[in-house]
Amino acid sequence: MPAAPARRLRLAVLISGRGSNLLAIARASEEGRLDADVVQVVSDVADAGGLAAARELGIEAIAIPWTKRVEFEAALARVLAASAPDLVVLAGFMRVLSADFVERFAGRMLNIHPSLLPAHKGLHTHERALAAGDAEHGASVHLVTAALDGGPLLLQARIPVLAGDTPDSLSARVQRHEHIIYPQVIQWIAEGRLTCTHGQPRFDGAPLDEPLQQR
Ligand code: GRF
Repeated sequence: MPAAPARRLRLAVLISGRGSNLLAIARASEEGRLDADVVQVVSDVADAGGLAAARELGIEAIAIPWTKRVEFEAALARVLAASAPDLVVLAGFMRVLSADFVERFAGRMLNIHPSLLPAHKGLHTHERALAAGDAEHGASVHLVTAALDGGPLLLQARIPVLAGDTPDSLSARVQRHEHIIYPQVIQWIAEGRLTCTHGQPRFDGAPLDEPLQQR
């Protein structure tokens, strides 16, 4: 008898911008490549392109304009309580959440960052990779902790920096990989291959002390 399929994961996705990662995740779900559904999209920016795109896909899309962090987080906690996500997926969400808030979702809040962490935490990563003369650049999916861009690393995609690269050309190439590795991490979690207990990620049961690399 075939094993019963695991329950599909419920995803709440937080965005601030156009939401191309959100759409890559939603597409993977739609095309049957991901055992998870985006049940809610939340943005701190009322006119974020990703909110409109989510609505067009029939996904609940909620704007919570950023006023004060404490107010934003109270409202965010309410909407997340209503959608009861298994994972909170930060996808181009440009605000920093408080340690207390992050702690409530320990082990089930993910972020994608456009650099090979721990290199280039924070903003303007493509410019900084070029200025540093890096031979490689890329993207990292990690668990969110109170340390900005500092949670345990799960999966990275590496690309070579090419002669003549600009921040825009690097960004475009990095994003193509982001759209692959973010759904991949979520699928591994849905399959139970990637787990996290007490802050320790494991892949196929083995502690993940170095990030997996996209193949
Ligand atoms: C991505 O490059 C991601 O790594 C970073 O913000 C960007 C979001 O892009 N955190 P998009 O809104 O998903 O297109």
